Amino acid sequence: MCGIIGYTGADDIVRALAGGLEKLEYRGYDSAGIAFAEHGRLRVIKSVGRIALLEEKLADVRTDARCGIGHTRWATHGRPTEINCHPHLSFGKKFAVVHNGIIENCRKLQTLCENRGITPVSDTDSELIAHLLELNYEGDALSAVRRTAAMLEGSFAVAALCSDAPDEIYAFRRSSPLIIGVGKGMCCLASDGCAARAERTYLLGDGQYARLSSRGAEFFSHGKPAAPKRIQTADAGSCERGGYAHFMLKEIHEQPEAAARTIEAVGNRRLRGEVLYLGCGSSYNAALAAIPLTERGTGAEAHAVTAGEFLFSERVNGRGKTAVLLSQSGETADTVAAAEEAKRRGYATVSITNVPRSSLTRACRRNILTHAGPEISVATTKGFTSQAAALAALLTGAEEEDAVRRLPFAIERALGCDGDAKAVSELFASCRTAFFVGRREDCGAAYEGALKLREITYVPAMGLSAGELKHGTISLVEEGTPVVLIHTDPALKDKTLLTAATVRARGGTVIAVTADDEVAAACDFTLRIPFVPPLLSPAVSVVPLQLLAYHAAVRMGRDVDKPRNLAKSVTVE
Ligand code: G6P
Repeated sequence: MCGIIGYTGADDIVRALAGGLEKLEYRGYDSAGIAFAEHGRLRVIKSVGRIALLEEKLADVRTDARCGIGHTRWATHGRPTEINCHPHLSFGKKFAVVHNGIIENCRKLQTLCENRGITPVSDTDSELIAHLLELNYEGDALSAVRRTAAMLEGSFAVAALCSDAPDEIYAFRRSSPLIIGVGKGMCCLASDGCAARAERTYLLGDGQYARLSSRGAEFFSHGKPAAPKRIQTADAGSCERGGYAHFMLKEIHEQPEAAARTIEAVGNRRLRGEVLYLGCGSSYNAALAAIPLTERGTGAEAHAVTAGEFLFSERVNGRGKTAVLLSQSGETADTVAAAEEAKRRGYATVSITNVPRSSLTRACRRNILTHAGPEISVATTKGFTSQAAALAALLTGAEEEDAVRRLPFAIERALGCDGDAKAVSELFASCRTAFFVGRREDCGAAYEGALKLREITYVPAMGLSAGELKHGTISLVEEGTPVVLIHTDPALKDKTLLTAATVRARGGTVIAVTADDEVAAACDFTLRIPFVPPLLSPAVSVVPLQLLAYHAAVRMGRDVDKPRNLAKSVTVE
């Protein structure tokens, strides 16, 4: 998702901004740009594509400017072109703006600008913010910021430069996060803690605005000085790859510790009663995989709905029921909106998220934290397993507590199939389409395996219930089509064997993910996992699927950590 940065201090501004943008790369983007004030004029340099392309443009730039802003854009309003790329300049070139979020009343604001004779040059909602700042400017940039913020609806984190105050940055936000760092003779800002390195870091409060200069940061709310919230940012080491070829691989290997920390943190808290799970992407898959466990643990029916669909579903009364909202980032707009909607419908709300003090934790009444640590790779791995581990801990009774405590060791052992996954990944690097199938809890894991493959290899892959395969989809299985068959429950063995035989009879290549020898013998290849109680298995059975996708993507020369078109957290609905 879009990321913003700003720096004011003694460092060379071009290098400082380029360094900050690199730290934001993991969030996913399709263009990038920077702006700084030079001799009373704002200078903007942008490029479509990777930061490396922008850096080529910046290589020869020499300037004595020491203050500027930068942006990585993930296109929502308008295609990824240089014109749509941030920073955006106002009509008189007095303000430059970078924006993360979405301005919901942009049509109205566009008409307002047009009525004042201003024709926006880009398709973005963000450009309008620059024009409004200049329209509201009467010599005091801070007042212009306050008036402009009041006119905006939706979510936004904005950093702006004004050509009349070349060493100051103005920042304001609502809903979208914005972190401000203050150090000796410098200030910086960023969309997340990995990019904001300073002695002290603050989360700009919702509705607050700030003025940053090399002398320090001043915070305001409604025209009066305000206090921001002091926070700790991730330490430097956790944002580096630590010897692994990719963040994704590092994070796959961090899963045992992530699960162990999460299980420990859940302690003796338990979910009770009727549960409705809400989440997006992998978080939705983690919920889906936990349905059978939930129904056994609570003795009541459980359901999972994607957060985006929940917003448009029938507004049935949720009183007496619990909505559990899952999100690794805690910032996914659909999920945050679903939390608000669930409260309106009367549900008790519980979040399961990896980020304390995120938008989602603020929206929910109760919060359960996963302790996966920062996840940099766009495709989530330890985010999913720590959610699965949290759910396992939240839903098991005393009789299975030991099995839950042993889950991290089982995940560790599942990592042992890395070599086999690498060998088998060849089948996926050359196929037209692939399938991931399983029953019950294995079905949620199958969805997640298919999503991983799609996300980072771009191979059309589908996850579905093994029982559904014969109702239409099997028509796509031809000679050599890879079908990953997940099998964890001995009670379902006959069904699994039948699925394997049905696929192989049509020429498909079946790859089993199982601890069962008989199932292994009935398939073409096997990725071994240790045996764990089936209802607890999704955190374990997903590991070979992550490795498969990873190795296939490497073989295919894909950009593993930053797949095309994807954003780490989608902060627009
Ligand atoms: C984006 C990411 C997915 C992720 C989903 C939910 O679409 O690309 O990988 O699963 O958001 O993210 P969350 O942070 O809410 O778990």
